[in-house]
Amino acid sequence: MKLEIIILAAGLGTRMRSPLPKVLHPVAGYPMLQHLLMELDGLNASVCTEVFFNIVVGYKKETVRNAVEQWRKDCGFKNRFFYSVQDQQLGTADALKCALANAAITRDSNTRIAVLNGDLPLLSLPTFVSFLEAHCKARSVASLISATLEDPAQYGRIIRLKNQLREVIEFKDASAKQRQIREINAGVYLFENGFLEKALPRVQNSNKQNEFYLTDLFKVASQIKKKSLAHCIPNTQDILGVNQFSELAHAQKIVYRRKAEQLMMAGVRIEDPDSVCIGREVECESEVKIGPHAQVHGKTLLKRGAQVGTMCLLKNMTVGEDTEIKNFCVLQESEVGARCVIGPMAHLRPQTILGDEVKIGNFVEVKASRISSRTSASHLSYIGDAEVGSHVNIGCGFVTCNYDGLERNGSRKHRTVIGDGVFIGSDAQVVAPIEIASGTFIASGSTITESITEVDSLVLARSRQVVKPGYARKYRGQRGKK
Ligand code: UD1
Ligand code: MG
Repeated sequence: MKLEIIILAAGLGTRMRSPLPKVLHPVAGYPMLQHLLMELDGLNASVCTEVFFNIVVGYKKETVRNAVEQWRKDCGFKNRFFYSVQDQQLGTADALKCALANAAITRDSNTRIAVLNGDLPLLSLPTFVSFLEAHCKARSVASLISATLEDPAQYGRIIRLKNQLREVIEFKDASAKQRQIREINAGVYLFENGFLEKALPRVQNSNKQNEFYLTDLFKVASQIKKKSLAHCIPNTQDILGVNQFSELAHAQKIVYRRKAEQLMMAGVRIEDPDSVCIGREVECESEVKIGPHAQVHGKTLLKRGAQVGTMCLLKNMTVGEDTEIKNFCVLQESEVGARCVIGPMAHLRPQTILGDEVKIGNFVEVKASRISSRTSASHLSYIGDAEVGSHVNIGCGFVTCNYDGLERNGSRKHRTVIGDGVFIGSDAQVVAPIEIASGTFIASGSTITESITEVDSLVLARSRQVVKPGYARKYRGQRGKK
């Protein structure tokens, strides 16, 4: 079986009141359409011989299309993509018509057509596969996923006759009695191609919204006496449709909770799973611990025994074995070696690479720097654009002065190279570009402006201390006279 997956993503998302197309609004760090594509791209050859996506774009079509193309690169989707354009948003049936009119796609009797709303970030692959199996088994020409909800809100209602699906009534068109029905239409459909060719032209827009409703296809199936199916699923979370920010917030909670559950099942200790936000691509090895309110996003890998404290924010990080990230750290696009201790309140900015057993203490910021093993910067320092050797001791308040402040094109940042075993006293600065040879001992309070090339030098770059006994009394006396 060939499966064409048409995704309806042309709508404005009026209820979001936002210029960003609805399907691009992020849910737990990924646009809702990307969630859906990441999940469905997992359909493998055991289920279908060929899968391809046909995405209907309309409102801000280039923005949506560019976003999808970017995700294809980021996620390495294996299936092919086509795009169809719906110029005017005349309704979901019209969007489907535009998808089917795409001249780049050839369909045969072996092609099944899935249609999904683009605003379904929680749909899981197992739910979709079981729906596909139920559709095939029932020999239905038109199927949908339904679910029975406590609060059926504004979803389309499922009308059954003798337990068989008869039609879907949109909320706005439903009578008070119909609105009491709690079985709803999820916005996930499967169709036989031949049926669509016959049925789609019969869909009219004579309804409250003057839109062509895709859901009317089920009424047509009943009229022409073709078998249709409402596949009612018990997992009501899967089908949450996001039309407004309150639904988005609800969906996001579920995505994060699902990820936390999955990690805990794999042996990750999460102190407070309701408070953490862990993205879907995050990987954790065994014995990892994650504290309350931690946020771990992007392609982050926490290796065996790594610990992330309360309120830390990590994005696109690799954290080595048994490394401890203490509370309130912000770490991005960097690599931390094994058995390091970071924080509390440390900041690792992009392109930082730390070796093993490095210590980065409170209020230390590191950017685009490589720091080798067993080096320690325990307090209040800035290390930017630097290459720091191993066993270096960086005292409190050290600064790499890397920025020359000049307005010109190209880099205005300069590099600092610090050799192995260097000792940097507190409150020292090095003005880059600069190199400090191995074993150098820099006295506290020094401002180093020239490279030190001789190993094991003692360097003092500060004014000499002057002591004048009794002068303080004299000084205070003078001030007192004024
Ligand atoms: C739709 C269903 C409703 C169902 C609900 C599930 C219809 C008529 N109604 O309602 O029965 O319970 O989903 O969440 O289908 N779109 C287009 N072109 C258009 C209009 C919409 O591409 O002209 C896209 C939107 O971008 C969106 C999807 O179709 O991704 C669904 O549209 P939306 O407006 O969210 O429909 P609902 O009112 O949620
Ligand atoms: Mg919707």
